[in-house]
Amino acid sequence: MSDNVTIVDHPLVQHKLTVMRDLATSTASFRRLLREISMLLAYEVSRDLPLVETTVETPLMEMESPVLAGKKPALISILRAGNGLLDGVLELIPSARVGFVGLYRDEATLEPVEYYFKVPSELGARRVIVVDPMLATGNTSAAAIDKLKAAGARDIRFLCLLAAPEGVARMSEAHPDVPIFTAAVDEKLNDKGYILPGLGDAGDRMYGTQ
Ligand code: URA
Repeated sequence: MSDNVTIVDHPLVQHKLTVMRDLATSTASFRRLLREISMLLAYEVSRDLPLVETTVETPLMEMESPVLAGKKPALISILRAGNGLLDGVLELIPSARVGFVGLYRDEATLEPVEYYFKVPSELGARRVIVVDPMLATGNTSAAAIDKLKAAGARDIRFLCLLAAPEGVARMSEAHPDVPIFTAAVDEKLNDKGYILPGLGDAGDRMYGTQ
């Protein structure tokens, strides 16, 4: 596996992912689990955020203590499934700025088509965390990151729930500077670009739109 992939193997993450994979898991449970798991993934993806010392007055005395340094991180959700991860990450980093990239996958060509792009200012000065639950072919993610880089983003992390080896390879080739965080890397893609064994269509499962 590529060096720039971190598999978050925390037991709670792995347990919740297994329940999410289960066909019998309801839409409500799937959504709740995605929110919970995204908080755990957010903990890992934010592990190396820079800190700076500040002075704080406790009830007993003054001390130097660390707080997050620099501009607020930017969370970029790749619509629509990214929003399922976004909620939990925002819960953990509530001051983050939020952007949206609307790219859908043309079912015939599997190529990304853009329909929306709105991101926070000064992307180049922020840690940018791109969220999308499924890293499948990697075409959508790579295209979204192309656009974010064109908008100035430099310090980028990609956060997903599940990845396919094909998607990891595509991203590593297109954006070797972007570390990937995921709960698991599955076996392969099927001929429709779905991850196997996977969990199905993440957007459909979280919004009940099958
Ligand atoms: N998108 C999904 O929601 N699921 C997959 O398996 C692949 C892409």
